[in-house]
Amino acid sequence: MFKRTLVTTALPYANGPVHIGHLAGVYVPADIYVRYLRLKGRDVLFVGGSDEHGVPVTIRARKEGITTQEVVDRYHELIKSSFERFGISFDVYSRTTSAIHHKFASDYFRKLYDNGKFIEQTTEQFYDPETGHFLTDRNIRGECPHCHAAGAYGDQCEKCGSTLSPEELINPYNAETGNPLVKKPTSHWYLPLDQYQQWLEKWILEDHKEWRPNVYGQCKSWLDGGLRPRAVTRDLDWGIPVPVEGAEGKVLYVWFDAPIGYISNTKEICDAQPEKWGKWETWWKDQDTRLIHFIGKDNIVFHCIVFPAMLKADGSYILPDNVPSNEFLNLEGDKISTSRNWAVWLNEYLDDFPGKQDVLRYVLTANAPETKDNDFTWADFQARNNNELVAIYGNFVNRALVLTKKYFEGKVPKTSDFTDYDRATIDEFKNVKAQLESLLEDFKFREAQKEAMNLARIGNKYLADTEPWKLAKTDMERTATILNLSLQIAANLSIAFEPFLPFSSDKLRQMIAPLSTASPLSNSPFKWENLGRIDLLPEGQSLGEVSLLFEKIEDDAIQAQLDRLARIKAENEAAAKEAELANWKPAAIKADTSIDEFDKMDIRVATVLDCQPVKKSERLLQFTLDDGMGGRTILSGIAQSYPDPSVLIGKQVLFIANFPPRKMMGIESQGMILSAVDADGKLVVTTVSREVKNGAQVG
Ligand code: MF3
Ligand code: ZN
Repeated sequence: MFKRTLVTTALPYANGPVHIGHLAGVYVPADIYVRYLRLKGRDVLFVGGSDEHGVPVTIRARKEGITTQEVVDRYHELIKSSFERFGISFDVYSRTTSAIHHKFASDYFRKLYDNGKFIEQTTEQFYDPETGHFLTDRNIRGECPHCHAAGAYGDQCEKCGSTLSPEELINPYNAETGNPLVKKPTSHWYLPLDQYQQWLEKWILEDHKEWRPNVYGQCKSWLDGGLRPRAVTRDLDWGIPVPVEGAEGKVLYVWFDAPIGYISNTKEICDAQPEKWGKWETWWKDQDTRLIHFIGKDNIVFHCIVFPAMLKADGSYILPDNVPSNEFLNLEGDKISTSRNWAVWLNEYLDDFPGKQDVLRYVLTANAPETKDNDFTWADFQARNNNELVAIYGNFVNRALVLTKKYFEGKVPKTSDFTDYDRATIDEFKNVKAQLESLLEDFKFREAQKEAMNLARIGNKYLADTEPWKLAKTDMERTATILNLSLQIAANLSIAFEPFLPFSSDKLRQMIAPLSTASPLSNSPFKWENLGRIDLLPEGQSLGEVSLLFEKIEDDAIQAQLDRLARIKAENEAAAKEAELANWKPAAIKADTSIDEFDKMDIRVATVLDCQPVKKSERLLQFTLDDGMGGRTILSGIAQSYPDPSVLIGKQVLFIANFPPRKMMGIESQGMILSAVDADGKLVVTTVSREVKNGAQVG
């Protein structure tokens, strides 16, 4: 019913390289989908680009000590070239700092403004009087109202994990300058999402029940919570200036301009190559276009609620037909984090594993976080390469080709009658096309890739069962049939895997049919429609050079990656410790007490005669004290702070002498040693500043 498909992928912030989380969540599935449609000969446009506005890029600039422009230039180029090397086959990859985009987004805002689609509201916002800047949530820090950690962010406390608003912070300050903040009124334009509530409810909850449960569920809970007007402008100096008189110092909110980037990037490619792509309006304003947004789960609300409301406010645009969103990928059990450098960066992977783009594509799809968060581990990466790509797919193809070279001079041999076993094998994969299609159309890429691998398993099993290398001694005719069918299966594999493993499919085509690959592939024998056929390679056709389709990955390559992660983990732990110490503040003073209360405590001085760890206890040290009154034993839970307790022997310490005795681990403790708690949580036993008599009172 649709005539064409427009596929967009979330525009990554140009504040760092892309990592495996981005790839698994967005770019690999989108690329699979687009390649599949192209292989079918469908009309498709694949749009990507960098998101170069917003606070994340400015924070990065400050961290690296360079200008924001330098940050976006650097990372845009890095991201773009990494995607290219990795085979993410964008038709256009542009940037939101382009002149076309600035004008387009600005005009978009202006049209809504002129048509009265915004409301203007004045609110009090945090302001740094010294720098003259309003601050965004992320740039405001202060004490957490819940756990009282210092340095919590205006949107979240990283210590206790609570979600915060800047209003809740105790003593908020400018994260960059440390200056205390004041509230100051500022006016902004808001998109009144509440006015779109009913329309969105019908459009999503009734008309798009087919969306993935995670996407549908998130939309439902936003809608159930009731939508409120959302500011679409900010007080910042990095971004697209608000095109309204008197709005100096204000820019479009990054989440207003970025999705418009999908449209302006479409315009850019259509204007540049109109004969190939036609008019941009065809892609965005014709109901026969199917619009699909590939995104990660943190982007759902923007793509399913805010952007559609913006499109609806304009009134001339189509809406997304589906928004396949993935959950998150973790790395070796921990959340991927750009700021903590806990990631496998695409550019580094491409350098460390040259020619192995498909291995990563394969592993990320096999573990795609389609329905729940998933974990990437290097052990799994190695196992999937060695046990699946090499041992099944590669092994099958290699045997079929090598045997054909050996027995039939490298030409596709002639088939004679099929046996029942041949027919059963053919039957096993005659449905592969329909199965793959239904899974791919349903955005079930993980299962789809499994189906493709199943075809390789069928081929591998066929060769193992028929053993042509043995038959070749007695029955050349039968050997020929077996190898013909095997080569046909290999040809099918190159089609079935083309969307997933394009580099390998290309290599495989060069090996089995070096002369017959036309461009585009949808015009070649390797087009999607031919999947499942057993006459793809004509008899007598010469094979090309044979080489290994996949190579084993050795332990040392994996160990090098694990070592790198271990180094990063150690660095992060050291940095966290340092930050904790730097942010340490004394605990709040306890409620008032009195000298009478204090007088009840009998605090005395004693010399430590001996100090030993208590057997079988991780916590306790046993003190033998000369208290000037015949001696006593005290147990103290400070063993973790004193790996060598003998350092305390000979010291004069303070202890509470009038606690009733208490038994721990079978030993009676007669009081309590006084210790100070340092910033790192370590306990430090208190001592006197010059020798006094044991048994002396403290007060
Ligand atoms: N830069 C955003 C992110 O990384 C995604 C922007 S998607 C777009 O989360 F729609 F705004 F372009
Ligand atoms: Zn907290």
